Amino acid sequence: MIARRVSQLKPSPTLTITAKAKELKAKGEDVIGFGAGEPDFDTPEEVKEACIKALKEGMTKYSPSAGIPKLREEISNKLKRENRLDYKPSEIVVSSGAKMVLFLVFMSIVEEGDEVLLPSPYWVTYPEQIRLLGGVPVAVPLSEEEDFQLSLDKIKPYVSDKTKAIVINSPNNPTGAVYDRDRLVEIAEFCLENNIFIVSDECYESLVYDGDFFSIASVSEEVRDITFTVNAFSKTFSMTGWRMGYVACPERFAKVIASLNSQTVSNATTFAQYGAIEALTNPSVKEKVLNMKEAFRSRRDRAYELLNSIPEVSVVKPKGAFYIFPNFSYYSQKLGGDVKLSEFLLDRVKVACVPGSAFDAEGFLRLSYATSVETIEEGISRIKKALESL
Ligand SMILES: Cc1ncc(COP(=O)(O)O)c(C=O)c1O
Repeated sequence: MIARRVSQLKPSPTLTITAKAKELKAKGEDVIGFGAGEPDFDTPEEVKEACIKALKEGMTKYSPSAGIPKLREEISNKLKRENRLDYKPSEIVVSSGAKMVLFLVFMSIVEEGDEVLLPSPYWVTYPEQIRLLGGVPVAVPLSEEEDFQLSLDKIKPYVSDKTKAIVINSPNNPTGAVYDRDRLVEIAEFCLENNIFIVSDECYESLVYDGDFFSIASVSEEVRDITFTVNAFSKTFSMTGWRMGYVACPERFAKVIASLNSQTVSNATTFAQYGAIEALTNPSVKEKVLNMKEAFRSRRDRAYELLNSIPEVSVVKPKGAFYIFPNFSYYSQKLGGDVKLSEFLLDRVKVACVPGSAFDAEGFLRLSYATSVETIEEGISRIKKALESL
């Protein structure tokens, strides 16, 4: 018998749709993929070279389970420089991608029956990981009319004496929302008063198109003490396949997380860690990251403009990340739901999008604009045509 804890586990729907689109492409079909959760740019050459050098120099053995000291030091420097966060290297743990890091974080704080608040729509992995640990994901609904913004008023009705933590994901996957700084300060103070941990998933921090990124742990020393700041090299540096992520948190938690890491993955791939050091320290990599952001900005603007021109579709302009999350309810209702709508689009016009229900938002579709402007134009024009026939 399969263990009960995994019997309800769902495979990642975003990976499933991407796989289906790739399969069709491999068969020679002209598929447009809006499913991908990764940048289409290659990893910067400097980063690859640093990794190759490390490989050639024999960095092919186990590393300390929390990460090699130089990398933790450079992450500590980065957090000071870019996020106004003061974490010692001993308060940082590196593991195999933010996904694994999040699992280690939840493992270290979630007990059976503990509730974790998830502003909804939310990234698919959070509730699955929380449930695996016996926790209870509690959705905090956000509204399209308010640009999917999070505020204390939205959270309060869902807080109970079992609330253990809240996940903050800004810039957000799937909505592209960037939470307002003053509201984050209010939420942080509320969490402090009510003994609620904050898990801040900052994977998309480099992609904020208007204004500056803000790390919630920087509110105060006390807030820093209840926060797990999670980040990755995946999206910022186009390194999704490298599996490099990290958490910064108070040392007593970092120690536990490092132990958990040592008993599960041992350590993030050693030579990949050398690539990560280069990503954080080489100024020309920084420049490339800024160029990628500008490319994403033009793609966002174009995708927004085109989706807005489809009758009966409403769309909030994303402020960050590389996703856009339009409301297709008018059409999905005709077909019996957003899963049916995404199947219809893939079958009829070979366009792959992720159904909103995967993110707790029936009637929406998530389109990743991590693809060329031409592809965005062609894909949205195909969607428009297909919907006209309904
Ligand atoms: C919000 C969010 N957090 C974390 C991750 C996982 O990142 P990684 O590839 O580093 O595991 C993703 C990837 O899609 C994401 O969208």
